[in-house]
Amino acid sequence: MNWIWTVEMTLRFPLAIRSPLPPALASSLHRRLPILSSPSAAALSSSPPASPPLFLRPLVFSASRSDFLDFRRWAESLALAAGPRLTCDGGPDAGLLGRELSWLLEDASASSDSSVDEVRLRVELEELYRLWRERIEKRRPFQYIVGCEHWRDLILVVKEGVLIPRPETEVVVDLVAEVQGFEKGLWADLGTGSGAIAVGIGRMLKEGGRVLATDLSPVALEVARVNVERYELKDKIELRQGSWFEPLQDVEGELMGLVSNPPYIPSTNLSGLQAEVGQHEPKLALDGGDDGMDHLLHLCEGSSLALKSGGFFAFETNGDKQSKFIADLMTTRWRKVFHNVKMVSDFAGIKRFVTGFRR
Ligand SMILES: C[S@@+](CC[C@H](N)C(=O)[O-])C[C@H]1O[C@@H](n2cnc3c(N)ncnc32)[C@H](O)[C@@H]1O
Repeated sequence: MNWIWTVEMTLRFPLAIRSPLPPALASSLHRRLPILSSPSAAALSSSPPASPPLFLRPLVFSASRSDFLDFRRWAESLALAAGPRLTCDGGPDAGLLGRELSWLLEDASASSDSSVDEVRLRVELEELYRLWRERIEKRRPFQYIVGCEHWRDLILVVKEGVLIPRPETEVVVDLVAEVQGFEKGLWADLGTGSGAIAVGIGRMLKEGGRVLATDLSPVALEVARVNVERYELKDKIELRQGSWFEPLQDVEGELMGLVSNPPYIPSTNLSGLQAEVGQHEPKLALDGGDDGMDHLLHLCEGSSLALKSGGFFAFETNGDKQSKFIADLMTTRWRKVFHNVKMVSDFAGIKRFVTGFRR
């Protein structure tokens, strides 16, 4: 795969943060993510090859301003007409689609004086028509269309086969930053996906600090690698493939901290999913088993061996009920192993995270 562009363009990232979903909406969307089945790693690896995010492609196409404005008018009318239909399953309303259209045009074109009769583009105008049709008619997530997601102060590459990082998960990085001496510790991000949490932590580390970022999915690791390289964190973040603690056997009992946003959606909730999520995001990233707790319970148990004494953990859950279950378990059955166990709320006030320390 040719990722040469990633290094070359690193310094050109826009600084503005663009969160396509308000935290509360994103949060409820995430909680409703359904799983139909867990595809094998081999199946995931057959996803289409990645191309650079739209905003990083060269401006080698152009269109007349009037054709460009025709596209905009057509896209707006498609969004307006589709809005009410899409909201039925919790999908975007016309207002959000309008904002997505603006972002799409921002990513796809160079700003130019409105007196100039030519608009420079990163894809052909026909391609923009195709992409917007996919967005509205196939409910393809906006982030897969533009190939990136704004998360904290990062712009992360995403593509089909990897979970789009959610705004609420940003809190995990803040929780790590509160741990005394975290900057020089050995951390693990289990189920790293796009590498969002690992990159967020990696950027705060000082000399000696390191993150081991693992995932079962080869597509996720491929995307995580791109993000790690884009942010020049190869010396801080090591990617490893395997199931949960399997790739961490050589560091058993040595981790200063362990974080994870595992799949936690109960399999029974799958049928109610918003199309963008249920039809497009990887099931491997969503399905938490019968009650959504399969992976969380495995992570709790494994943490007792993986963490060193005094080591910190933070897990994201499906919200209040799951958090309470995990926190109760840690303070009863595993009280001799963990202490200072807390539930932490997300932006929407939902008890989304469970944190604590290894005795
Ligand atoms: C909810 S996603 C989180 C992704 C990323 N950490 C984030 O917050 O955006 C869960 C991740 O766990 C990975 N995963 C699922 N089963 C796994 C397993 N048995 N071992 C390791 N990773 C797994 C998925 O591939 C997916 O990337």
